[in-house]
Order: sequence, then structure tokens, then C-alpha cells
Amino acid sequence: MKALKQRLGRSYARFATNVAVRFPRLWPLVRPLVRKQFDLLAPEWDGMRSPDAFSPLEAALATVAGPVEAALDVGTGTGAAAFAIAERFPAARVVGVDIAPTMVEQARRKARDRRNVSFEHGDASSLPYERASFDLVTAANMIPFFDELARVVRPGGTLVVAFSLGPATPIYVPSERMRKELGTRGFTEFAEIEAGRGAAFVARKR
Ligand SMILES: C[S@@+](CC[C@H](N)C(=O)[O-])C[C@H]1O[C@@H](n2cnc3c(N)ncnc32)[C@H](O)[C@@H]1O
Repeated sequence: MKALKQRLGRSYARFATNVAVRFPRLWPLVRPLVRKQFDLLAPEWDGMRSPDAFSPLEAALATVAGPVEAALDVGTGTGAAAFAIAERFPAARVVGVDIAPTMVEQARRKARDRRNVSFEHGDASSLPYERASFDLVTAANMIPFFDELARVVRPGGTLVVAFSLGPATPIYVPSERMRKELGTRGFTEFAEIEAGRGAAFVARKR
């Protein structure tokens, strides 16, 4: 029964990703179930992650040049990617944002003794941040809302979109699509990185 539920959950995540990427205006229709799904998964989320889940993200972070003072992890879940950014850029102020309140609670619990990492509740389709606020924005296994990602990265800043299992990740967007969507929104210098069982896409904003 649990396996069936997980399979249905993965199928819905795939469906919601396609809807949000192709028809972003329809996102409000699929949002309630996505939020509910991840709220229910939050208490067991860390236990479901394999040790190499963030290898692609970490490999991509290693390529980020330039100072990172402010970073945002979108769809942060329990915060693993936000903590990985803080490890690599100890001087950065890192914010993780997620739509599922229970994910945010779990992440905040892990951040209690961290001065430079915080977590907030918010929707990636309408991020509660000013234009060009971040030097680095990441999204790991998360639906990329391209307009908003492009809006909050500062000129010269970097966007990293990582998928733990590459194309087998339930939430996945092929790199051709990433290149096309980001290219029309001012991003250049694209790089694709493979690590562990997954892949990451790195783009720099003009
Ligand atoms: C597959 S999980 C990935 C979590 C984490 N990044 C990781 O890799 O472990 C997707 C996360 O994105 C969040 N999410 C989905 N849609 C969102 C949206 N529109 N805005 C913010 N968070 C969202 C979910 O609540 C969930 O925590």
C-alpha cells in the first residue's frame, strides 16, 4: 500500500511539473495537492534521501565563481541544499523557501544553531523577494518557475537546478528546455554537470 502511494505521488509530481513548466498559469490548480503531498512526506523526507542525492548539486556549487553573499534555495524541503550552500560559502546568508509548512518546520529545527541559514514559507511561482536579491539561486528536485528564478538572480549571478536521479527524478526538466527557457530570460554560459546518479544545470545571468 505504501509503495503504491509512493508511485502515485511520483506520478503526480511528474504531472504537476509538466503543467507548471508548460502552462505556468495553471499552477494554482495543481498547487494544493503538491503542498499536501509534501506536507505529508515531510516527517520521513530525510530518511527517504539516498547519501548521493545532493552530489550533482554539490558538484555544481564547486563550479560557482565569484563572491556569494546572499543565496536562495527554492523548494528547499528539509533544507539539505541550503545547508550544502552554507558549507561551501560560509560567509553567505542562505535562505531556503518552501510551500509546504511542515517541510519548513523540519528545516527550521535543523537550523537552530546555524546563524547564517534561515527558512521561510513561500511559493516559487511568486517569490517574496526583491528583484536581483541573490548572487546564487538553487533548486534541487524542484519545479523551476522560470520567470521568478530569473527575477531574483542578480545580473552576473548563478542559477543551479539539480536533479538527484537525472531524467529518472520525478520532478525533472530536460536540459534543452532549461536552456531555451533560461536563454530567453537573460541567462548565458550554460553548463551541464553529471555526478552521482544525477545531473545539474548551471546558468549564469548576463
Ligand atoms: C521533491 S521535493 C525536494 C526537496 C529538496 N529540495 C530536496 O531535494 O530534498 C520538492 C519540494 O519543493 C516544494 N515545492 C513544490 N512546489 C513549490 C512551490 N511552488 N514553491 C515552493 N516550494 C515548492 C515541496 O513542498 C517540496 O518540499
